[in-house]
Amino acid sequence: MSESIKVLQDGPYQVSPDTRLNIQSIGTDENKVSTHWDQGAEYPGKLTPYFLCRCGRSASKPYCDGTHAAVKFDGKETADHAPYAQRARRYEGEAVDLLDDERCAQLRFCDRGIRAWDAAIQSGDPANLALAEQECADCSSGRLTLVRKDGTPIEPDLPKEIGAVQDVPRGLRGPLKVTGGIPMIGADGREYETRNRYTLCRCGESQDKPFCDTRHVNCPHMKGFDSV
Ligand code: FES
Repeated sequence: MSESIKVLQDGPYQVSPDTRLNIQSIGTDENKVSTHWDQGAEYPGKLTPYFLCRCGRSASKPYCDGTHAAVKFDGKETADHAPYAQRARRYEGEAVDLLDDERCAQLRFCDRGIRAWDAAIQSGDPANLALAEQECADCSSGRLTLVRKDGTPIEPDLPKEIGAVQDVPRGLRGPLKVTGGIPMIGADGREYETRNRYTLCRCGESQDKPFCDTRHVNCPHMKGFDSV
C-alpha cells in the first residue's frame, strides 16, 4: 500500500488509489458533547488516483466535480511547514505534558467535563490522565498531543484512511480527517510533516490551507451531509 495525498494548485486533493475513504460522523452524548466517532459507509475503492473537493463548491462532495475552475478558486497554501514539536506550546502536567499548536478544526472532543489542558496539568490523578488521553486521541486535527516525561508522544493507533467528516450536531460537513500517517505533498512539491492525525480544509475558506482552521462552521455551502 502507498497511500498519499497531493495538493493541486487552486484545485482538489489528488489521492492515491490505495487510500480508503469513508464517512465519519461526530458522535455525542445526551448533552451534545463530542464523545466518539461513528464510522459510516466506505466509498468504493478506486483503481486510479481520485480527487477530493478542496473549494467546497462541488455538487458531488466529497469528490471534485471541476467547479473550482468555474469559481476561480484561490487555493494558495499558507500553512507553516515547521514540524509540530517546534510550533506547539507545552503545558507542563503532573504525570504528562500537553502540546498544543492551536491548529483547530472545532470538532469539540477536548472538553468532556474537564478540558484536555486541565486534565493533563492535573494528570497525577489517573482519572484525569485517562480523560486527557481520550480527549487528545480524538483530536483529529492533531492540535493536542500528550507527551510522557521521557519525551515520548502518546499517539493512538489509527487506521490509514480519509474520513469525510459529518458534524451531525451542527448539520454540516466538516474537514477531511486524515489518519494513520498518510504523507502529503503541497502544490509546490514540498512535503508536509507526516502526522498520525490531521484535518484538511474542504470548504475552501481556511486561512491556514491546506489545513482546516474552523471556518467551515460558517459556510452555507457546507450545510448538509455526504452520502455514499
Ligand atoms: S473545512 Fe474547516 S476551514 Fe475549511
